[in-house]
Amino acid sequence: MNARKSQVTPPTTNRHLIRWVEKMAELCQPQHIHWVDGSQKEYDRLCEELVASGTFTRLNPKLWPGCFLAHSAPNDVARVEDRTFICSLSKDTAGPTNNWEDPFAMRRKLKQLFRGSMQGRTMYVLPFSMGPIGSPMSQIGVQLTDSPYVVVNMRIMARIGKPVFAEIDKDIKRVVPCMHSVGAPLAPGQQDIPWPCNDTKYIVHFPETREIWSYGSGYGGNALLGKKCFALRIASNIARDEGWMAEHMLILGVESPSGEKTYLAAAFPSACGKTNLAMLIPPKKGFKGWKVWTVGDDIAWIKPDAEGHLRAINPEAGFFGVAPGTSARTNPNAMATLSRNTIFTNVALTPEGGVWWEGMTSDPPAECIDWRGERWTPAIAQSTGRTAAHPNGRFTAPASQCPSIDPEWENPAGVPISAILFGGRRASTLPLVYQAFNWSSGVYIGATMGSETTAAAAGAVGKVRRDPMAMLPFCGYHMGDYFRHWIKMQRSLRSTPRIFHVNWFRKDAEGRFLWPGFSDNMRVLKWIVDRVRGRALSLESPIGWTPRYEDMHWDGMDFDRARFDAIQQVDHAQWKREVMDHEELFLDLHDHLPPEMIYERELLICRL
Ligand code: OXD
Ligand code: MN
Repeated sequence: MNARKSQVTPPTTNRHLIRWVEKMAELCQPQHIHWVDGSQKEYDRLCEELVASGTFTRLNPKLWPGCFLAHSAPNDVARVEDRTFICSLSKDTAGPTNNWEDPFAMRRKLKQLFRGSMQGRTMYVLPFSMGPIGSPMSQIGVQLTDSPYVVVNMRIMARIGKPVFAEIDKDIKRVVPCMHSVGAPLAPGQQDIPWPCNDTKYIVHFPETREIWSYGSGYGGNALLGKKCFALRIASNIARDEGWMAEHMLILGVESPSGEKTYLAAAFPSACGKTNLAMLIPPKKGFKGWKVWTVGDDIAWIKPDAEGHLRAINPEAGFFGVAPGTSARTNPNAMATLSRNTIFTNVALTPEGGVWWEGMTSDPPAECIDWRGERWTPAIAQSTGRTAAHPNGRFTAPASQCPSIDPEWENPAGVPISAILFGGRRASTLPLVYQAFNWSSGVYIGATMGSETTAAAAGAVGKVRRDPMAMLPFCGYHMGDYFRHWIKMQRSLRSTPRIFHVNWFRKDAEGRFLWPGFSDNMRVLKWIVDRVRGRALSLESPIGWTPRYEDMHWDGMDFDRARFDAIQQVDHAQWKREVMDHEELFLDLHDHLPPEMIYERELLICRL
C-alpha cells in the first residue's frame, strides 16, 4: 500500500486530479506511481528499460539514429472495432453504427477488470494536450497507463508532461480522464514478457462524462488514447455540443509560385493514402515553384473563427503511419521523417540492425527477422506466403521532422480551410474529381462515400463499404445526428469551404488504373485551388461540377482528352446502382437522418 502512494510530490496542485489518481491506484493496485514529466531524460530512461525488458530492440544508431523496434503479441496487432463501445446513457444516442452497452453495467464490468490489473507494474500518470499547449482549440487529457511503450509513443504523438500539468493547474479546461491497462498483472517474482496484453479487450467511451477506459491491448489506437478515442470519438461529441468539427482528415497547404497558400482538409478511409497525400511532392516537370505543406495526416479539429471562416488544427504531434508500402518512391517525405527518433512496431529487423517492410525497396533483403520474431527469407515468403512486416506495421515519428511540415502547423489559431475533399478507393463509377454544387450536396457526398474492401479482380468491382466522412469507426454518436451537425455548421459560417470528391483508383475495362496517382495528384489539387480561387471554369454534370480538360495543368504529363473523358465519365447506369446503394446506409439511420439528405438524394435521382 505504501509503495502505491506516489514516492514524489505530485507535480500538480489540482486536487481532483490527485484524488482521482489515488482512487485509480486503489483500484488497479500498481507497485509504483510515476508522474510523467515528458523530458528527454525520462524518455531515454524508459527506452532503456524497454530494451532491457525485451520490448524494444535498439536499431543500429549509424543507420537509424534514435530508433527502436517493437514486436507485439500476435493477438494485439490492430484496432479492435468489435471490442469498441460507445456507452452513452441511451442506445439511441450511440446509433446503429456503434457498439453500445448500458453504461452502468459497463462500469461494473470495467471495475472488475481493472481491479488489481496493474499489480507488479508502474502506473504512469501521463498528462497530454491534443493540439498546441495553450491553444484555445486544444483539449487536455490525463492517461493512467501501465505501459511504458504507450508513454514513449505518446511523447511523440502528443504534447505531454510538465507544461500540461501547468495547464491543468490553471483550471480553465475540463480534463478527460483516460484509464488504460494492458490487463497483465504480475505476481511477486513473476517474469514479465516483452508484450503483455490480454485476450479480453475493451475500448470504452462514456460520452456524457467524457471518459475513456481501455483494457487488454497495448497497440496503436486501442492504447494511445489521445488519438482515435479522444481526438475523434470523444472530441466528436464535444464538437457537436460546442459547434465545431472533429474529423478523420489530413490537412495540407498548397503554395503557388507566387507564394499564395491555400489549405485543404481531406477525409479518406484507412489505407487510401492520406499520409501520402499530406506529404505530396509536386511533379518535377510542370510544377516549378509549387509546394505542398503538411499540417497533419490523420485528424483535423475544425472550428469557425470570429469572422465565420473555418480554421483547423492538427491535434497530434506525430505520425502513426502504416509502414508497408511506404518508400522513397511513394513518399520520400515520410521516409525522411522516420529516418531518426522513430519507434517502429511490427516491421522486420535486418541483420545490419535496420528495419524493412514490404514495398520499402524493390528488392527484399536476403534475410531478416520478421514481425513475429522468426527468420524470414524471400524463399520462405514464397513457400508460406508470410510477409516480413505485419500489414498494419507502424512507424511513430515526430511531425517536426517532416521536411514538408508547414511553418504554421503549430499556430494556436489553426490554418484557414478553403476546401474539403472526400475520397475512397473505387474501381468504377466515381470520377477522378468533381465539385459539389453547394454545402448540403457536399455533405451528401461525404455521407455516402465508400471504399472497396478488397482489391478487385481485373475489371471487376469490389465490395464497397460505406464509410461516411471516413468516420464509421470513429464517430462517437449517432451517424444521422452527425450528418445533421454537418448541415447545421453552415449556419455559423460566412464562407463555406468548397467540397470535392476525388478518386485516384478508377480502373479501365482491363483492370488497369487510369490515373498514375502520387505526385500527379498535384494536378487535381491545382484544379481544386483554381476553383476555390475562382480561376477555373467547370462543366455541370448530374453529380456536380467537373473539370474541363483545358483547365487541368498537363505540363510534364501525357494524358490525352479521350483518357480524361474516360476517367471523368459519369455513367448513368452505374450511378443508378450507386444511388440504390446509398439507400442501404440511409435505411439504418432513417429516424435520425436530416431531411437535407433525403432531398439531396431525390435531386440526384432527378438529375440522373
Ligand atoms: C489509423 C486508422 O490508424 O485510420 O489512422 O486506422
Ligand atoms: Mn486514421
